[in-house]
Formats: sequence, structure tokens, C-alpha cells
Amino acid sequence: MLAGKHILLGITGSIAAYKAAALARLLVKAGAQVKVLMTPMAKRFITPLTMATLTRNPILVDFFDPENGAWNSHVSLGCWADLYLIAPASANTLAKMATGVADNLLLTTYLSARCPVMAAPAMDLDMYMHDAVRSNLDTLGKRGVILLEPASGELASGLSGKGRMMEPEDIMDRVVSFFAAKGSLSSRKILITSGPTKEAIDPVRFISNHSSGRMGAAIADELASRGADVTVVSGPSPVRPSSEAVKVVDVVSAAQMYEAFMSLYSSGDFDAAVFCAAVADYSPSEASPVKLKKEDSSLVLKLSPTKDIAFEAGKRKRSGCVHVGFALETDGGEDSARDKMERKNLDMVVLNSLTDEGAGFGCPTNKVTFFYRNAPEEAMPLKSKQDVASDLADRIEKLILC
Ligand code: C5P
Repeated sequence: MLAGKHILLGITGSIAAYKAAALARLLVKAGAQVKVLMTPMAKRFITPLTMATLTRNPILVDFFDPENGAWNSHVSLGCWADLYLIAPASANTLAKMATGVADNLLLTTYLSARCPVMAAPAMDLDMYMHDAVRSNLDTLGKRGVILLEPASGELASGLSGKGRMMEPEDIMDRVVSFFAAKGSLSSRKILITSGPTKEAIDPVRFISNHSSGRMGAAIADELASRGADVTVVSGPSPVRPSSEAVKVVDVVSAAQMYEAFMSLYSSGDFDAAVFCAAVADYSPSEASPVKLKKEDSSLVLKLSPTKDIAFEAGKRKRSGCVHVGFALETDGGEDSARDKMERKNLDMVVLNSLTDEGAGFGCPTNKVTFFYRNAPEEAMPLKSKQDVASDLADRIEKLILC
């Protein structure tokens, strides 16, 4: 049920920590890969050895491994996870999460996590009802933390009321339905072009552009997290999709990208194609087999147009397949976006303008406008590329499923 899912399980110092063992077991049994983060206090309630044995992964408590000094990177942990589940979540940790305190690995990972976060509060009934706790829970809920409401019953204090951590089986149900809801694109096949291309002038030099491949990787990860079967034809880019489920076909030139894309496209029944790559429009007509010598006179390079992948795929598009193109303009964006939609037989165009600060190549953010065939355009505010990918995935999902 959770095969291939990466789950970070955060355990805090609560008597309910013992239930985290049963929860970890259920997650692992369902096929998830589980890494456990514990606060220093949590170690007093349940041993790291128990959790390490159940999850078959070392337990992370400190910023550095006390044995060998290895750095436990909260950033890469946050990127690795598909879900960060904090169970039990003590009043102390919830307060720190609400106020951005970062004094242990569990909390720094929370602050840098890009994945959804679930928290299962566990505390005494009066603590749970205290205004301070209620306000922290309210803040976290508004920020998107999925709160798993505690049950009523007998508490460790001997009192009876609301505050018992949700039972591991019930948490498990919530995790499974969370991924099922996210898996709205399961069994859908999506092909993406991403990154720049490099056109050889000679064995040393090439023509390229500033595309980093970040937007394409973010879109691939987002679609894969919704269950889609994603293949990326990627130009030379240091940025890779982080999801292991995404298949990547590496190419260098526009011609190679065209060949790789077309061979995949014609052999598979794709539900969508996203043309995110900044493909070179021209390539040297003949690449020199040897390095060109420097001369005093000017050098004239003859360039020939490359094949337009989106245009060619648009001609072969099967009904029901959704094509999304990108347009990056310095002026006349709207006309150009609409023109591309027609010419390349696209269902949607994502326009980003180089004149908008924080948008376009290289940066972690983007500001886009979505254009549709039969609906007014939507101008979005400046967002992280992950959030733009999520907005785009919502729209692709609608186009595929409608
Ligand atoms: O016409 P222009 O290059 O501005 O169009 C951009 C859109 O077309 C992008 O979606 C881009 O990925 C795609 N494209 C392509 N093959 C090319 C050039 C652009 O797929 N050779």
C-alpha cells in the first residue's frame, strides 16, 4: 500500500512514544521506507535500538553522529521524505513548531521539509485544552500541518479525557488515505522534456542557455508524488528529480532530445506530455570534428533550425493526451503564449516572463501565467518552483481526468 513511499517518523518525549514502535512496524510492513528522528527526550521513553531494528535504518537524534561526526543533513532528510509524520507530538514540540524554534534535528527538519507534515498530538487533557496549546495547533493547522486529533480515554496521568495519541492503526489509515488521495494520477503516463540542450560547435565549445532543469525536475517529482508514471527526457542539468520513481533519459543536443522523446512518445500511450525544456532553436550546421583554431578574422558560424519537439508531437497527438508547453518571453508574452498554443497544438501554456523579478532561469522561484484553450488565463503570484509545479499538476490532473 505504501511501496516506494519515504516516511520520516518524528518521535517526541511523550509516554505515547511506545506506540511509535507499532506505528513504525505497520508503515514498514506496508512497504514504506521509514527513517526515524527522535528528540533527545524521546530516547528516554523508547530506545533508539528498538526503532532502528523495526525500521532497519539508523536513528537520527543529533546534528552530528556522535560516533563518527557524520553530518545528519536536515535539508536532505526533508527532501527525501514524501511525508513527515510526527507521532507522538508533545505540547513542547508543537509549540516550537508553531514558533519556528530549531533547537533539535526533528525541528530543523520540520522547518526545512518540503513534504506534507502530519502531527499526532499526545498530552494530558488539561494541556490539550490549554489556550496556548489550542492556539499553537490552530497556527499549525492554518499552515497546512495535518493534525491527527487525539482520542478521548484513559490518560497516563490517571485522568480521563481527550489527549490520547491516535491509535497506530488509525494513524496508518490516515497515512494510506493521504497517499491514495495524492495518488490521483496513478497509472497515468506522463512524458516531460526538461533542462537545456547543448549544441556542439567543436569538441570543446557549444551553444546552450541558462536553463537549470529545476522547473522540470519539480514538475516530475510532483506528478510522481500523485502516482503518475513519469519519464523525463533531460538535457545536461545538475538538477535531478529527487523521486526514485521518476525515470530519466539523459540527452545532450536538441536532435538527441527529439529522437529520445519521439521514440518514447510513439511507443507509449501517454496521458500527458509537458514540454518544459529550453531546447536550442538553432544548432551549428556542421560541428567541427577538431577544435577550431583562434584566428584574427571574425568567425562566422552557420546555424540550422532544430526540430521543434512540441510542434512535431502536436501533429501526432492522440485524442485524450494533454500537451503542456512553456513560453519564456522578454516581451509580448500573452500573444506569444496564445500563438504557441495554436501552432503547437497545446492544451495549456505556462508563460514566464524574464522581466519579472524572481522568475525564469536558475532561481528557485517562478512567476507564471497559465493559458488555456477554453478558459481565461490565470496569473499566479511569485512562488517556489515546487509550488508552481503543484499548481501545474492540479491543472494537468483536471485536464486529464475531465
Ligand atoms: O517557440 P518556443 O521555443 O518559444 O516554444 C517554447 C515551447 O516549445 C516550450 O514548451 C519548449 O519546451 C518547446 N520546444 C520544443 N522543441 C524545440 C523548441 C521548443 O519542444 N525545438
